[in-house]
Amino acid sequence: MFTFDNERVSDEQDINLLLDKVFGDNRLEKASYALRAGVDPVPALSTVVRVENRLAATIRFWPVMVKDLILGSSDEALLLGPLAVDPALQGSGVGSALVRQSLAKANAAGFERILLVGEADYYARFGFVPVLPSFITLPGGRDARRLLVRQSARVSSLPAVGRLQPVGHQTAQSAIASPKPAFAV
Ligand SMILES: CC(C)(COP(=O)(O)OP(=O)(O)OC[C@H]1O[C@@H](n2cnc3c(N)ncnc32)[C@H](O)[C@@H]1OP(=O)(O)O)[C@@H](O)C(=O)NCCC(=O)NCCS
Repeated sequence: MFTFDNERVSDEQDINLLLDKVFGDNRLEKASYALRAGVDPVPALSTVVRVENRLAATIRFWPVMVKDLILGSSDEALLLGPLAVDPALQGSGVGSALVRQSLAKANAAGFERILLVGEADYYARFGFVPVLPSFITLPGGRDARRLLVRQSARVSSLPAVGRLQPVGHQTAQSAIASPKPAFAV
């Protein structure tokens, strides 16, 4: 039987083992990891699936900043990922259930813009679209060709030229503590 739980601090090791198994241990070289260094995942949204107390899937969310490189302004957003399902359970609907459930919570908490680096073919079903024609880069100057976004119609468009940046630890906690108006996608 599957149980969906909020991630706990004690899950960290099992989450890393699952991520190594699914993505390989060179996963830490990906640009998206630079956005998470020194920042805690958003606890109310980051969820694990257990099967008989064994951790079988994970989804995490992180606060990030989207900097407008023309205007110099910055806006808060959420970064989704990684999302991983144990290979033994892949294709059983667990990944989709995790995404839908956590997006509903993010929606209810009023997060208006969620970004991720991933496969458009998979994430389109949840309302994610490529950030193009915006040109948004990730840390290290790498062009995020796989960068996708899901956002409320009420927020302004992404910057024409921008950069995703990590937030400081304190900002991350305040992003969680301050509820925002709900949005519909
Ligand atoms: C991707 C992943 C999270 C999906 O979770 P899951 O529980 O296995 O999948 P679900 O049952 O929820 O959904 C299955 C659907 O996802 C599609 N899918 C799975 N992996 C995909 C991928 N890499 N790219 C595009 N579509 C993918 C399947 O084709 C299937 O499509 P269908 O519903 O049209 O038949 C999971 O397979 C996983 O952890 N894979 C390894 C990591 C990975 O490949 N990540 C890439 C996505 S960013």
